[in-house]
Amino acid sequence: MRVIITPDYATLSVAAAKVVAELVRRKPTAVLGLATGSTPLGLYRELIRLHRDEGLDFRRVRSFNLDEYALPPDDPNSYRRYMHENLFRHINCPDGQWKVPEGHARDLDAAAHEYEEQLREAGGIDLQVLGIGRAGHIGFAEPGSSLAGRTAVVALHPTTRADAAAAGHFPNLDAVPTRAVTMGVGTILESRACLILASGKAKATIWAQFLEGPVTAQVTASALHLHPNVVAICDEDAASCLHDREQYRNAERVLADQPLLPTAI
Ligand code: F6R
Repeated sequence: MRVIITPDYATLSVAAAKVVAELVRRKPTAVLGLATGSTPLGLYRELIRLHRDEGLDFRRVRSFNLDEYALPPDDPNSYRRYMHENLFRHINCPDGQWKVPEGHARDLDAAAHEYEEQLREAGGIDLQVLGIGRAGHIGFAEPGSSLAGRTAVVALHPTTRADAAAAGHFPNLDAVPTRAVTMGVGTILESRACLILASGKAKATIWAQFLEGPVTAQVTASALHLHPNVVAICDEDAASCLHDREQYRNAERVLADQPLLPTAI
């Protein structure tokens, strides 16, 4: 795993966008896995800037989002709406090429299964962007989820629901859905590379558990240690509980000329 510590959120966002942009330039038909939440907003802003100012071309890119609340797609809090507002309405990726799990199908299980099929037909994900929840989740693979899990309907952890309410996305805790559809850890681990991001002091404890604790279903992000191509970027605040900070810095100085993503993607 490559671990990169940046001075602040702005630098983290630019570093993350560089990883995504390099892949899209090298492979214009790249299949991206995307996340929502506050962490990737700066990354998306930078991708929009690269599209506008430097012609970064998303015409042939396809993408699959990690998860969706059990909400209608046009609900203001749906992740479909988030992706449209924060990325896709600003770039040239045609509608229909970016997908978000169906959160409001009559048969959510069948829709989740169909999502996995679509992913397989697209040839799998080249680069999966991830945030980490304070419950240690990636996607909505909450504590105790199977580390081999596939896209499925899940119950949201109380911490996850409380954080969604506290972020002001919902009027109160009761308005936060109790269920969501999410890629499983097994789905995520099949991506050819992963880029996980964390910013801010509120993530410092869980970021240290993820990077320096055991691989455990209680912190589903820790399963990324079983993946050969992971880039983990955090800012100084999120890095503040890491024991091995100097070694990560040292490793990045030594490996500065090594590509972050495998060139074979
Ligand atoms: C969102 C997702 C979640 C978030 C995580 C962090 O699609 O999959 O795992 O990445 O909850 O959320 P923020 O970035 O809001 O702290």
